[in-house]
Amino acid sequence: MPAVTSPEQLFEHELQDMYYAEKTLTKVLPKLAEEASDRELSRAFSSHLKETEGHVSNLEKVFRSIGKTPEATPCPGIEGIKKEHDEFVRTSSPSSAMLDAFLTGAASRAEHYEIAAYTGLVSQARALKQREAVELLQENLKQEKDALKKVETISKRLLKDAKAGNGRTAARS
Ligand SMILES: [Fe+2]
Ligand SMILES: [Fe+2]
Repeated sequence: MPAVTSPEQLFEHELQDMYYAEKTLTKVLPKLAEEASDRELSRAFSSHLKETEGHVSNLEKVFRSIGKTPEATPCPGIEGIKKEHDEFVRTSSPSSAMLDAFLTGAASRAEHYEIAAYTGLVSQARALKQREAVELLQENLKQEKDALKKVETISKRLLKDAKAGNGRTAARS
């Protein structure tokens, strides 16, 4: 990575990091939609996939608005969240109800990560007086916040169902 010595360069680096994260999520979300047994949760993943594709294209617009070519730089943060999911699924033989509950937690972690990243990016764009970038990044931020609320609501319902014994308890092979 070239030396980062200006706010413009830092902004570009953070954009590249988020571009990588969003692109990763477009590959992960279809798998999560398939893994989830609960229909509302599965649908939430599918609809957030569409939004995530929009996040990728908004980021491409932000790059262009500052005269840069979209480029991704590996984001260990999102890779870590993904790895945590993969290991749990591989080693914990969760029942379908517990897998669904776990997926809501994994999704919340990803949304919190994205919310933190976009909050920072909006502040940076604002400080750099990049008005178009501010608007595009705020659009993404708003959808991440809405997605978090949705998954938190589903999570509460799933946990209540599980506690009441309505959850499916069969272990997944
Ligand atoms: Fe996103
Ligand atoms: Fe998201």
